[in-house]
Amino acid sequence: MSLIEARELTRLYTRGTETVRALDSVTFTIHPGEFVAVVGPSGSGKSTLLQLLGGMDLPSSGSLTIAGKELSRLSDTERTTLRRDTLGFVFQDFGLLPVLTVAENIALPAGLGKVSQAPSVDSLLERVGLSHRKNHRPHQLSGGEMQRVAIARALVRRPKILLADEPTGNLDSASGARILELLQELNQQEGITLVVVTHNDTLAAAAGRALALKDGKLV
Ligand SMILES: Nc1ncnc2c1ncn2[C@@H]1O[C@H](COP(=O)(O)OP(=O)(O)OP(=O)(O)O)[C@@H](O)[C@H]1O
Ligand SMILES: [Mg+2]
Repeated sequence: MSLIEARELTRLYTRGTETVRALDSVTFTIHPGEFVAVVGPSGSGKSTLLQLLGGMDLPSSGSLTIAGKELSRLSDTERTTLRRDTLGFVFQDFGLLPVLTVAENIALPAGLGKVSQAPSVDSLLERVGLSHRKNHRPHQLSGGEMQRVAIARALVRRPKILLADEPTGNLDSASGARILELLQELNQQEGITLVVVTHNDTLAAAAGRALALKDGKLV
């Protein structure tokens, strides 16, 4: 059983008169519980691929099936539901709301639609080792701590799949190592499937396998 299935996935962008093949006929399968790194030089299509996997963008051609659902056959509402209930996202710039506390940032997605058995904010804080930062605001945290809050927030709806785009990109190596450790725990202990775009060799080596892109193609 595959969890993510991409067939001939292609995303074209037009820039003036030029057509950019940001993703060019990419085919792969990801099984439940895998930890997959997406690697390749700048401009090779990594973020484009992650945006498609996250249902935040639609392919120009090809098909993408996530948890048995072909994305192009879903309505906008169905796609939003799939995104909300199956996927968690973590980005390089953390994406925390500065006016909210750590606890409020984590609780935010839980308010969007019903969550059955949502883990409590306290248990998530404990999970990422930040119980003592509960009532702080993002600017009072280090980059590594902000990223751990972002990961806790991504987990609040119990996603099957966690998608991360350069989650250690803005961190020093010690903080990056801590994030990697957390991701590995989530993968190994909780069976969350990870798809992580990274330039970090240690992170890429920790993944079970890499999808390597060059000029939009798998190499
Ligand atoms: N909205 C857009 N409009 C036009 N071209 C785009 C757009 N987004 C991305 N591209 C182009 O698509 C290609 C792939 O971009 P993408 O952002 O996926 O690369 P990347 O591998 O994530 O690079 P980086 O490592 O620098 O983040 C690049 O040539 C980029 O310039
Ligand atoms: Mg990118």
